Amino acid sequence: MAPLRYEHDVTTWDGDGPVPNDVLVSETSTAEGLLCMITDAIGAPLLERASHLRVISQMAVGVDNIDIGECSRRGILVGHTPGVLTETVADSAFALLGAAARRLFEGEREVRSGKWGPWEPFHLTGGDLHDTTLGIVGMGRIGRAIARRATGYEMRVLYSSPAPKDLADADHVSLEVLLAESDHVVLSASLNDATRGLIGASELRLMRPTAYLVNVARGPLVNTVDLIEALLSGWIAGAALDVTDPEPLPRDHPLLSLPNCLVVPHLGSASVRTRNAMAALAVENLIAGLEGWSMPAAYSTAG
Ligand code: GLV
Repeated sequence: MAPLRYEHDVTTWDGDGPVPNDVLVSETSTAEGLLCMITDAIGAPLLERASHLRVISQMAVGVDNIDIGECSRRGILVGHTPGVLTETVADSAFALLGAAARRLFEGEREVRSGKWGPWEPFHLTGGDLHDTTLGIVGMGRIGRAIARRATGYEMRVLYSSPAPKDLADADHVSLEVLLAESDHVVLSASLNDATRGLIGASELRLMRPTAYLVNVARGPLVNTVDLIEALLSGWIAGAALDVTDPEPLPRDHPLLSLPNCLVVPHLGSASVRTRNAMAALAVENLIAGLEGWSMPAAYSTAG
C-alpha cells in the first residue's frame, strides 16, 4: 500500500472477505484506479457508474471476473499478474496430482478417523506419476511449467491448445486424443467463452477409468454435475480440484461427499513469496497505468 499512498488517495476494503458488490460499485464511482481480486465482479453495473476509472489492476493472472470488452470500449486499461505465479501454480498442480493419484487424502482421512489398520498389500493403491502420460489442457506459461516438471518424472506429455507451440518435449494433440491417451489430465487453460464447460460428460467418458483429473485453472471449465457422475460411476478414478464451480463450495455439496475427490480452496498461487510478488506487480501495474507509463503486465490496452 505504501507506494500507492505516496502519490494517491487510497480507499481500501478492510472488512472480512470480499468487498460486497454494492460497496465496490459505489466506492469505484469516483475512483481513477482500482486494484481488485478474482472475487470482484467488474462488469457493466460497476463500469457504467465508474466514469473516472482509467486503470484496473487485478491481483491474479486470470481476468474472467472482468468484462474486458467493456473496459476496452470505455478506454480502461487492465493489468494482471502473469509470470510471477507460474512456477507456484505448477507446483500446486503436481502436489494435487500426487495427492490424488497416490490417494494421500484418502489415507490421511483414514488415519485421522482412527481407521488405520494393519498394512495390507493392496490397500489404497493408486496410480503412478512416473512413466505415465500426462495430458495438459491449455499450454500457456503454467502449462509449460507443468510440462517441465513432468519431464523430470519421465512422463510423456500431450497437450491441447488452440494452436501448437514450439515445444520439444510435448506433443500437440486434439482434446479427444489427449483425454483418451492420458493417464492423468491437468487443466491449465484460461476461462473464456471457448473453454467454459470444456470438460463435460462426453469428455469425461473419453478418459481412462484409472485416470485422475486435476483442475488448477477455473472451476467452470468443468461441468460439475457431469464430474460428479464421472466420479460416482467410475468413468475416471478421481479428481483433485483447486477450483470449483460454484466457488466456494457449500459444505453439503455432493462433490465433498465423494471419497475420490480432493478439493482445496483455490490455493494455486498461495505461497508467501508468490502472493507478495503478485501484490507488488498489481501495485506496479496500477501506478504505471495511472501515470500513463506502460504497465509491466498489461492484460489489455484501451480502445
Ligand atoms: C488465480 O486464480 C489467478 O488467476 O491468479
